Amino acid sequence: MIKFSRPTILMCPPDFYGIEYEINPWMNRSVPSDLERSKRQWNALHDLLVQLGADVRLMQPVAGLPDLVFTANAGLVCRNKVFLASFRHAARQGETPVDAEWFQSAGFETIAFPSGHNFEGAGDALFCGDTLYAGYLVRSDVSSMQWIGTQLNCRVIPLQLVDDHYYHLDTCFCPLNAETALYYPGAFDDYARRALSQIRSLIPVQADEAARFACNAVVVGHHVVMNQGCPQLESDLVKAGYVPHSTPLDEFLKAGGSAKCLTLRLDGEEAAVWP
Ligand code: ARG
Repeated sequence: MIKFSRPTILMCPPDFYGIEYEINPWMNRSVPSDLERSKRQWNALHDLLVQLGADVRLMQPVAGLPDLVFTANAGLVCRNKVFLASFRHAARQGETPVDAEWFQSAGFETIAFPSGHNFEGAGDALFCGDTLYAGYLVRSDVSSMQWIGTQLNCRVIPLQLVDDHYYHLDTCFCPLNAETALYYPGAFDDYARRALSQIRSLIPVQADEAARFACNAVVVGHHVVMNQGCPQLESDLVKAGYVPHSTPLDEFLKAGGSAKCLTLRLDGEEAAVWP
């Protein structure tokens, strides 16, 4: 069993980050990211998480894998097991062997997906309490989510993602604790919204802040870290008893990512009650 004494987060420095292909509506090769600015923004996020008490572990960046910075997609962690991603797009498939090596050297048991199933890790699979909320259609397959449910023996609630801008579940849904979550209603159909209403307290995020990736927040204890420019959500979080922190992450929005995508919680999310 791997032991963690404090919130532990995996990140990967943006040395080779860039907009080299277009696999979601936010990416546009003619709107490149600025490497120095990306590094500054990434460092500020890293330092803020450390300040909030997190133990941040680093993965070595690799040339030719610009999206490796988005460690949320590396896999779904549950205790000492990691279900490795099986990326939909060829452009990201080279990340999985790198992720696998990192997890193995850190002492995790890695589990690869049966062939023919796509799964994009914690980007699409988030525990709220003992239930795994699972985004599917754009990147991950619903069959992958069911397979994880049988492997972990946990309840899976599949949520169909209906807007390509919110192509991963973590772009439109963020559990804060076992009974509370943020969500952007416009990213879901009626059926998914009904499924989500099982969560006792749902905090809706408005469209303009959702588009600034407000839902893509990192939760450390009662602290919530997100991109800047989301004042409505910040005030809703304060009302709910949380401490919001904002930090500029617009360089990463160019790739369709923000705070949460740049992190992977290794010891279990605050909201997770692992099976
Ligand atoms: N450019 C990346 C992609 O489209 C961004 C990934 C963001 N990660 C996330 N967990 N939402 O795959």
